[in-house]
Amino acid sequence: MQNQNTTILILGCGGFIGSHILPRLLDETGHRVVGIDVNASKIEEFLAHPRFTFEQLDVHDTAAVRKHVEKSDVVMSLVALCNPALYNTIPLSVIDINFTRPMELVQMCAEMNKWLIHFSTSEIYGKTISGVAGGTYDNPDRYVLKEDESPLILGPITAQRWSYASAKQLLERLIYAYGYEQDLAWTVIRPFNFIGPRMDFIPGVDGTGTPRVLACFMEALLEAKPLKLVDGGANRRNFTFVEDAVDAVMGVLNNPSEARGQAFNIGDPRNEVSVAELARMMIDIYRELRPEARDWELRTVSVSAQEFYGTGYDDSDRRVPDITKAQQLLKWAPQTPLRDALKTTIAYYIEHYASLTEGLSEQSTSDSGGD
Ligand code: UGA
Repeated sequence: MQNQNTTILILGCGGFIGSHILPRLLDETGHRVVGIDVNASKIEEFLAHPRFTFEQLDVHDTAAVRKHVEKSDVVMSLVALCNPALYNTIPLSVIDINFTRPMELVQMCAEMNKWLIHFSTSEIYGKTISGVAGGTYDNPDRYVLKEDESPLILGPITAQRWSYASAKQLLERLIYAYGYEQDLAWTVIRPFNFIGPRMDFIPGVDGTGTPRVLACFMEALLEAKPLKLVDGGANRRNFTFVEDAVDAVMGVLNNPSEARGQAFNIGDPRNEVSVAELARMMIDIYRELRPEARDWELRTVSVSAQEFYGTGYDDSDRRVPDITKAQQLLKWAPQTPLRDALKTTIAYYIEHYASLTEGLSEQSTSDSGGD
């Protein structure tokens, strides 16, 4: 989109992904950006930018959101409760934030003819055909995930882990239906485990509860505690560097006619590891970046899903994206190998959370690695 008078509204602008999209939009385009979030701590340095306006706003304030949608051309929807520890513990809030609130936004965009770019999730695929058939991955057609072909395989209602995937899936179906019946202009992005600086939080420092796996492992490394592998860490993920993901978002904006009416897997199929392998890589890189940690006994420990998440947890076995569509229509290709992405991310955590790690080097040889 070359029009310099475009206004892009970003709901959830202050979160991890928003905090990476915002600077790229300000640097690489002439668009005006309006950001909405409950918290601006990750984007403070941009608050005074002449083409950026921030409003501290809760998306439950529908009237205020509506006013912003009216004044914008493109609406990016990033607000989500996207942390698995919440799905089986506060499922009502998970369904509210991931379905009910954005449902109103979809309706507004349809009514006012705005282009909605919605961030969905790789989790809507749930489990793979290979996974539910016993875990033999000899046929990629049974586990590689294709946007418009793969089945979406979730567990029973009692496995509340799937409250999030169900909410996100129904929202995608609603968006698709508005496109079909009322010509809503839409694009859906399905993130495959984006990682990078500013992801999530460290419990007790800048947030509470259990973050996603990368921040859980970072907390363990920074505090020299064991990295917990849920059920042994056998499940696999594709981790995608957030700046590669932002390239895809720029590809969407730069190719509007190709991007409209499409859902895109945004992930790096080369970056697949089991969670146990991720833990080992992170320990190695942490030791490389913090020489004093080389003598620490950094290790993993297996914990049951029941112990870690409580009742109602379940999991995706594998998430390998087919990215042919994004490569062709958005002229996009992810660039960053997992090791490089982890190095940049871990270096950020070490620097940003330096105060948390103070004193660890002195005590490390005596009690590191202990629970
Ligand atoms: C989550 C969200 O549900 C998705 O919406 C989102 O797209 C995705 O993250 C993402 O970041 O893109 P998930 O990958 O299951 O899905 O979340 P993580 O918390 O990052 O867990 C990944 C795996 O690590 C799971 O198998 C989990 O059981 C395991 N895990 C997590 C550990 O073994 N140890 C931990 O300390 C934390």
